[in-house]
Amino acid sequence: MIVPRLTASSNWPPRPRTLTVGPTNLPALCHTSEELATSVSAHPQGLRNCAGPQGLGRLLEHLQDAIGALLGSEAFGSVDDHHASRASRLYVVGGGIVQDLGAFAAYLYKRGIPWVFVPTTLLAQVDSSVGGKTAINASKGKNLIGAFYQPILVIADTALLDTLPEREFRAGYAEVVKYGLLGDREFFEWLDANWRDVFAGGPAREHAIAVSCRAKAAIVARDERETGDRMLLNLGHTFGHAFEAAAGYSDQLLHGEAVGLGMSLAFEFSARRGLIAKAEVDRVIADRKSTRLNSSHRT
Ligand code: GLY
Repeated sequence: MIVPRLTASSNWPPRPRTLTVGPTNLPALCHTSEELATSVSAHPQGLRNCAGPQGLGRLLEHLQDAIGALLGSEAFGSVDDHHASRASRLYVVGGGIVQDLGAFAAYLYKRGIPWVFVPTTLLAQVDSSVGGKTAINASKGKNLIGAFYQPILVIADTALLDTLPEREFRAGYAEVVKYGLLGDREFFEWLDANWRDVFAGGPAREHAIAVSCRAKAAIVARDERETGDRMLLNLGHTFGHAFEAAAGYSDQLLHGEAVGLGMSLAFEFSARRGLIAKAEVDRVIADRKSTRLNSSHRT
């Protein structure tokens, strides 16, 4: 539900409002984004192949309805009731899925209103909160519909992570290890020695999150639109997405768990192709076993 924090005495000129979307909005958001995805997927040929103006009109109507449904859900429907303007801010509070949907809606509403992200999972704090990716899935694939849309502010309170189930934290930790594997041997070795402290909280956890965010921000600054270096951040994701698809994108396998498994396979694959030494693969797998990253998913 949208929470209006300010009340205006008149509707004009519109005053900036604060709107909030959080995990409690997830069912409504998922439902409406599914409608949007179904609508787009119902026309897989796209605008190009629509038969004449009538077909085009129907498709546009369909899209308009679906996008209206996304913005008109219980979560966003009251935006207009509260006279939100382009100067309004949308606060998105939650993990990666809430961010994908909430930020995408912020991108669509009135051609874009500023959004602020308060990430509540480790994965969101070290990965999705940096770089402005927003998306919804379509029947043809994951993240097919979306935009790059940067938040104006990210507020990551590392103490919030104390409320996470251990399985969620462990899954997010796979993305932390990823930054060590992306060319920062010193960080990888530090994690190897200190992962228990990272799990326990306090300065070690803050350090791990800060290093991860800095590493990601440096890559995104070079390549926001993922035409080059940013693809490095997909380490383990190609195999991981296949596992997620096989698990039906269910909580049988969390995204971080899939990425963790995917990274091991990516290293194995590279070794088979003669691109890295077998000893490197053994090192990665030994590290992942010690932190139980290979075994946290349900089989
Ligand atoms: N999660 C990978 C990226 O943001 O590019």
